[in-house]
Amino acid sequence: MKVLVIGGTGNISRGIVAALLGRNHEVVLFNRGQHVDPPPRDVRVIQGDRQNREDFEKKVSAEYWDAVIDMISFNAEDAASAFRACQGRVGHFIHCSTVMTYGPPFNGINIPETGPLQGESGYGLGKTAADNFLLQAFKEDGFPVTIFKPSYTHGPGMNLLRQVGGDGSWIDRLRKGKPILSAGDGLNYFQFLSSRDAGDAFSDILGKTQCLGEIYNLVHPQARTWDEWHTAAAEALGVDIQIVHVSQETLINISPERYSGLRGNFGHTQIFSHEKLASVLPNFTPKTHIKNSVLDNIEWMDKHNRIPDSDADDIEDRIIETIRNLPRIT
Ligand SMILES: NC(=O)c1ccc[n+]([C@@H]2O[C@H](COP(=O)([O-])OP(=O)(O)OC[C@H]3O[C@@H](n4cnc5c(N)ncnc54)[C@H](OP(=O)(O)O)[C@@H]3O)[C@@H](O)[C@H]2O)c1
Repeated sequence: MKVLVIGGTGNISRGIVAALLGRNHEVVLFNRGQHVDPPPRDVRVIQGDRQNREDFEKKVSAEYWDAVIDMISFNAEDAASAFRACQGRVGHFIHCSTVMTYGPPFNGINIPETGPLQGESGYGLGKTAADNFLLQAFKEDGFPVTIFKPSYTHGPGMNLLRQVGGDGSWIDRLRKGKPILSAGDGLNYFQFLSSRDAGDAFSDILGKTQCLGEIYNLVHPQARTWDEWHTAAAEALGVDIQIVHVSQETLINISPERYSGLRGNFGHTQIFSHEKLASVLPNFTPKTHIKNSVLDNIEWMDKHNRIPDSDADDIEDRIIETIRNLPRIT
């Protein structure tokens, strides 16, 4: 197949490109050529900015694509532009949405694709608007779209997340044997998929006509608690871990800005159903061992200086010291 990936050098799309090349597809990327990681050698890149609508639509509609995978569409205007560029020029169009369309607040656990769309963040609302535009285009114009909703997907191209933040200093803390913070009891569940495994799913859905007009959650079928995730990272690094639990509310009170993510999805258990995807991709099982995906991600962070010296900012040390030294009734 001749496949266009809009994006292609980022976190998930890098996994997609690797999977497509591994299946001998002809891969073409559309991006601005600004990403810190270059595309793989021998992959053709159409250079452009998708926000320059006219140029983007002209370049994309100049060729016929067996499939287009749109990784950087965030609102109805992006989706409408992709539709104008691809209508009649594509066999299968995959739109990358997100589970943040379902919440927070999240409606229970094991949320299926039919779950209520309660995502209140600008990001979630924008993705819902893009999804709705494309589903309407499927109904009215037969636009051959399939929508994927990934949950947290890790790999090169993005910092390895922990529950209380997206900065990379926690890796430095683990390496130095320093304790790390976790919010609440550390038992909120999440699904952690590697970008390599996500890439397999994006590639394997291509050409499946029964998936047109459908939405699929793209998540790891097994959930982990945040404590298990932090511990898995330490194990991958070959170090011991000490986790200090502090309630979510306390952390937000101490630093509302630093711990703002806890008000959003990191403060909730979020588990999404994998069943619908499994029904069309029965062979899709995440194969990447967590140790390998975590180490890949950390290697990328080291390469791009994304792991700051944790001694340079002592707020986490001060919180932990205060909590450990609180006068307690024994
Ligand atoms: N990672 C997660 O946990 C997660 C979870 C759910 C959903 N998602 C979704 O996954 C998608 C992100 O995919 P990704 O991880 O591959 O992306 P990414 O790491 O954010 O990389 C962005 C890619 O798009 C290109 N790009 C950015 N702005 C562009 C523009 N204006 N015109 C043309 N190209 C542009 C970048 O290259 P240049 O900079 O060179 O242009 C790069 O190739 C998003 O739709 C996001 O909502 C991610």
